[in-house]
Amino acid sequence: MPRKKIVAGNWKMNKSLPEAEALVKAIVSGSEEGDGVTKIFFPPFVFIERTAALIAGKNNFFVGAQNCHHLESGAYTGEVSALAIASCGAQYVLVGHSERRIYFEETSEELRQKLELAFKHKLSPVYCVGEKLNERKSNTYFHAVKKQIEEVVFHLSETQMKSLVLAYEPVWAIGTGETATPDQAQEMHAFIRLAVAEKFGHAVANSTPILYGGSCNPGNAKELFACPDVDGGLIGGASLKPEEFLSIINSF
Ligand code: PGA
Repeated sequence: MPRKKIVAGNWKMNKSLPEAEALVKAIVSGSEEGDGVTKIFFPPFVFIERTAALIAGKNNFFVGAQNCHHLESGAYTGEVSALAIASCGAQYVLVGHSERRIYFEETSEELRQKLELAFKHKLSPVYCVGEKLNERKSNTYFHAVKKQIEEVVFHLSETQMKSLVLAYEPVWAIGTGETATPDQAQEMHAFIRLAVAEKFGHAVANSTPILYGGSCNPGNAKELFACPDVDGGLIGGASLKPEEFLSIINSF
């Protein structure tokens, strides 16, 4: 079975509610039904429920959260649980985005807990990995990414693994305008798929979508998506502009 093609928009901390509504509406009305592309919006938490209502009944559109807390519930003022997210109509959750790892010092142990809670509440996690610039320059990038996968993904069951999406986002390419070349992306995606195959077998590895993220835009999406192990994109900046996001959706 061919792998899912996915284009996901990570809006980060952007947009007001009216702007968010306008963005969702423009993308839904501008996309072609039957394009075979799974589209996922990752708005700020407070827009999840409204986004879910706007995409209700639309083929291949989903909404997710940019993060969830690593504990089930409790006295953690300002935090949001996987249960709360799922109950607002989300189907996906980003786990381990580099901005969360760097600015909020999220550890592998916390990320493992987040994955468990996501699965418990029937959310499909999009688990993000990617090396920093110094790791790219010192040629330790395979090791860095393997560690992020081993420490967080390798304890999952085969069933859990089947609803996981991976995203490779080199930190040096996020929001910088610098993109990994198709060769660099393919090399890492193939490496990640091999790591998954060694642990879970080829059937699971071959059905796991691996997205590329990091300054992906209408000008480079086609080349990146043409790589055999790149199954779509996790898009930041370009997901805030309907015409750019739509163009990326049409880049397969
Ligand atoms: P970018 O962000 O497309 O703006 O580089 C990607 C991401 O952080 O998911």
